[in-house]
Amino acid sequence: MKIDITGLSVEYIMRRSGDKLIALKEVGFSIATGKFVCVIGPSGCGKSTLLKVLAGLQSPSAGEVLLDAAPVQGPGKNRAMVFQSAALLPWRTVLRNVTYGLELQGVSIQEAEKIAGDFIDMAGLSGFEESYPREISGGMQQRVNLARALVTRPDLLLMDEPFSNLDPQLRNVMQLEVERIWEQTRQTTLFVTHLINEAIFLADEIIVLTARPGRIKEIVPINFPRPRKLGIKKTPEFHVLEDRLSELMDQEFHEVVYQQSQDDRP
Ligand SMILES: Nc1ncnc2c1ncn2[C@@H]1O[C@H](COP(=O)(O)OP(=O)(O)OP(=O)(O)O)[C@@H](O)[C@H]1O
Ligand SMILES: [Mg+2]
Repeated sequence: MKIDITGLSVEYIMRRSGDKLIALKEVGFSIATGKFVCVIGPSGCGKSTLLKVLAGLQSPSAGEVLLDAAPVQGPGKNRAMVFQSAALLPWRTVLRNVTYGLELQGVSIQEAEKIAGDFIDMAGLSGFEESYPREISGGMQQRVNLARALVTRPDLLLMDEPFSNLDPQLRNVMQLEVERIWEQTRQTTLFVTHLINEAIFLADEIIVLTARPGRIKEIVPINFPRPRKLGIKKTPEFHVLEDRLSELMDQEFHEVVYQQSQDDRP
C-alpha cells in the first residue's frame, strides 16, 4: 500500500483549558509500497497521532492522507495497528485474541486457529494459547498484540512501540522475527520506536520528527542489505548512522527541555 501525505496537521483541544494543542504541523512524505519505515522523535511529538491518522482513528485538521491514491475514511480491514499499550480483549484467551481479526474477516474458526497457531509460535507464546490476558506478563501481552496484528496480513501494518515492554534479548529476537516476516510479506510498515538502533536495524527509511509540534526534521535512508543479521549493529557503518541520528534527536530533546522551561515560567 502506497502512502502519500501532504500538509498534514492535527490539532487537539485540551480538555481542561480548552486550548488548542498542535500535535503535527504540515507533515508531508510518501512511502512506496512494501517499504519498512521507522518513525522516531521526542515524546509528545505526534508519532502515535501520525499512526492513528493512517489507521483512520483520528481525523486530520488539515492536509491530505492518501492510501493507494484514495483518501483515508475511517478504519479498514486492509490496515492493522499494534497499539502502544496492548489492548487485548480480556474475555478472550490468547488464541482467541489472535484469531479475532480473522473471525471478523469471515475466516472459519478452524482455519483461523491454524493460522493463529503459527503466529503464536513465532511470538514465543506456545503453551499459553488458553491463558487469559490477565494471566500473562506485560511483555507477553505485547507479543499477543503483535501476533494479532500480523495474523491478518494487512497491506499496511502500523506498529506503535510494539517492543517497549520487552527485555533487550527478547527485543533482539522480535526484531529479527519482524524483519523475517516482513521479508516474506513485504507489507508496507510504519514502526514507531524510541530506540535508534532498533530503527536502523529494521528500516529502509527513518522519519525523524521534531519536538512538538511534530514536523519532518529529516528522512534518513538505511541501505543495509536484507535479510539483516544482528551482527550489523556492531559494524562501523551502523555506528556512523547511530551517531548521526543521536545528534538529530539530541537537538530535538534540547527543544523539549527548552519548551518545558518556558511552560514553567510564572
Ligand atoms: N486525544 C487527545 N487529546 C488531547 N491531546 C492529545 C490527544 N492525543 C494526544 N494528544 C497530545 O498530542 C501530542 C502528541 O501526542 P502523541 O501521543 O501523538 O505523541 P507521541 O510522539 O506518540 O509521544 P510518546 O513518544 O510519548 O508516545 C501530545 O502533546 C499529547 O498530549
Ligand atoms: Mg506514542
